Amino acid sequence: MKQYTYYADDWAKHVMGPSIGMNAFIEFESKEIEISVVRNALKFLESNKVISNSTYSLDNYDNFVEAVKEHFHIPWTGISPRMRRLIYSINSINQPNAIVCAGIFCGYTYICNVGASIGSGASYNSRIHLGIELLEKEANLAKKNVENFVPNHGKNIICDDAVNWFNNFCNEKIDLLYIDAKSIEFDPKNQMLNGSVTESLYLKILKSAIPHLAPNALVLAHNSQNAQPTVSDYLNFVRTSDKFQTSINLVIDDAGLEVSKLY
Ligand SMILES: C[S@@+](CC[C@H](N)C(=O)[O-])C[C@H]1O[C@@H](n2cnc3c(N)ncnc32)[C@H](O)[C@@H]1O
Repeated sequence: MKQYTYYADDWAKHVMGPSIGMNAFIEFESKEIEISVVRNALKFLESNKVISNSTYSLDNYDNFVEAVKEHFHIPWTGISPRMRRLIYSINSINQPNAIVCAGIFCGYTYICNVGASIGSGASYNSRIHLGIELLEKEANLAKKNVENFVPNHGKNIICDDAVNWFNNFCNEKIDLLYIDAKSIEFDPKNQMLNGSVTESLYLKILKSAIPHLAPNALVLAHNSQNAQPTVSDYLNFVRTSDKFQTSINLVIDDAGLEVSKLY
């Protein structure tokens, strides 16, 4: 088992706080610097054999962002622009056939994962791409956003508890699991994350998903940096369990993304 942390030099400056997060397209830096920071993070994943290469289409990415700007209503997000590029590019390179995203709020994190395989920024086709959101109001907004993005795709948004869905409805082998499920009022400063005292929701979701993960599946977990105290059991699990070959904490912004590769 290998565990590493990668830090971008200026990670702490990229914070999607309560007001900044209302603009998903805020420009913290030039496009060239953003591309370069993400390239370095991808090369770190490549050198540790988490992904096979670090090349993705910059034009497709630009098309993806334009389509999100046009078709999505995003009330707030914790996803910084460089995190959006990182999540999109990991999927574009890895090309998972079956993707499940747990805790998607308005659908923005869903489309950051799935935008590499559906819509005008797609680089390949995924067969299964599901987003699971607990709250009905948020799930309905996500459905509307995704339906606007690609007609007939709104049906891929499911309103359910992700743990319940994995335990009772998942009949597929999943290649990419994205975890971002937490209380909608989550504030990293207060470290309020729902889930029992003994086990975080991230870990509950992962444990319910493991029987359904394909060999070499990737698991991406958002907030690996700023929610460390509340998801420490999750981080400890992916970093020490013999089910995982490698787990890498990519700290390119204040939130961070843990990328874990199953055997
Ligand atoms: C804070 S939001 C994630 C926001 C995301 N980082 C973004 O920038 O758009 C977390 C979402 O997880 C959802 N959630 C909480 N518990 C869940 C569960 N058990 N299953 C599915 N979704 C859940 C919440 O309703 C909320 O919409």
